[in-house]
Amino acid sequence: MEQYQRYVTDNKFMAEKENQILQSSKTNQTDASAIPKNNFTQSSRTTEFALDRSKSMSFDWSEFERVFATEFNSKGGFERLVSFLSEVSKIIAKYLKSERDINSKVLDFHHPHQLREMMDHCLYVDENPRDLEQLLSDCKETLKYCVKTAHPRFWNQLSTGIDIIGLVAEWVTAAANTNMFTYEMAPVFTLMEETVLERMRGLIGWRDGDGIFAPGGAISNLYAMLAARHVINPNIKQAGMMGSKKLVVYTSEQSHFSIKKAAVILGIGLENVISIPADNRGKMVVSELEKAVKQTLQQGNIPLMVNATCGTTVLGAFDPVSEIAPLCEQHDIWLHIDGAWGGSVLFTEKYRHLLKDIHRADSMTWNPHKMMGVQLQCSAIFLKKKGILSAVNQLGADYLFQKDKLYDTNYDTGDKAIQCGRHNDIFKLWLMWRSKIFVGNPEEERRFQASTRTGQC
Ligand SMILES: Cc1ncc(COP(=O)(O)O)c(C=O)c1O
Repeated sequence: MEQYQRYVTDNKFMAEKENQILQSSKTNQTDASAIPKNNFTQSSRTTEFALDRSKSMSFDWSEFERVFATEFNSKGGFERLVSFLSEVSKIIAKYLKSERDINSKVLDFHHPHQLREMMDHCLYVDENPRDLEQLLSDCKETLKYCVKTAHPRFWNQLSTGIDIIGLVAEWVTAAANTNMFTYEMAPVFTLMEETVLERMRGLIGWRDGDGIFAPGGAISNLYAMLAARHVINPNIKQAGMMGSKKLVVYTSEQSHFSIKKAAVILGIGLENVISIPADNRGKMVVSELEKAVKQTLQQGNIPLMVNATCGTTVLGAFDPVSEIAPLCEQHDIWLHIDGAWGGSVLFTEKYRHLLKDIHRADSMTWNPHKMMGVQLQCSAIFLKKKGILSAVNQLGADYLFQKDKLYDTNYDTGDKAIQCGRHNDIFKLWLMWRSKIFVGNPEEERRFQASTRTGQC
């Protein structure tokens, strides 16, 4: 309701501004200050905006409908839809082919003001609907200036390449356009999520446990810290951090900044994130971690979580989990594995040893959108124990998560999440997994390593 009101208020504001603009353009005194600041950055646009609006007062919305909806249902509409989609496929196929041309540029770089000028003919959004031909041209134009992530000279250890099965899966996902918050909204994808999460937990070495797909590794790390905090003090959910003792997080100086960010978001505070030195290969020095934990205890504060990064962002180092785990077990500290990047080595016989003992951890972040080459975004947080995600996040909104539905509402995974609506990130991973990765098959592993460049770590 509040949002709706804000929407109405915003629209009123826009309408008032537009009226002012119309009045001033009628009297030939366009007042730039009358235009909401965030609309356009260039003053030339400002003038165009004012003039366009004055022309389009009797705008016909049925134009819009004709192009995007009803036409496909009318006589011959299906054929037109098929030909439109095949035109898009051709554009994509040509792009994918040209992307792999080693003689082409990885990026046709231009400064923002230049690019704005070069795309001037199509960047503008206004109330005039463009026809499908124009939109096809817009698609081509857009791809022209993108970074070619499947180019042989595009080298990024975190995410790279275009997997065709993943691409097709993204199309199907968009066609289904379902929201992952409840089983009734996404029955098939909910089951796929359950199946794949279970399979991935199996690779971590957990028979049971919990997990959820999240929008990226940073958010997955936030989930882990949130869960750790809930286990140590469930009251915080109700009472907030005010009465809490200082909670301390340990992470190597080479770890990803999202650990610090999570501490900021959760009210733990940056000064309570202890940066543990790393050795010259980028691995956490466990004796330094030990010292830091001792100091926390001496100060009467609470060691909350150790983050062991498996696959650090810059050096690709793997913190020694086998040495860190006993320390965490001794002091009852939550052990989180940030395997956002390196988690995927679980798929290879050759490198799996880098993640030895990760089953001793309490949680793990793992991004299939990194080393596995699944299209962005695809990231999951795993927990060894079931029930914590629900306990900390569940609020039971009764318009969405009713308990008297005609199916097992444990399949309504949405209330375990910190978001409401959730994108379907599972289908592309599921389809890709079915198409290629087979642990233990040397030929598959070789291809996986070649395609993901695991061979370099
Ligand atoms: C080790 C590590 N953790 C977490 C992240 C954050 O992942 P995302 O960009 O998906 O939020 C990254 C990204 O670079 C990373 O390298």
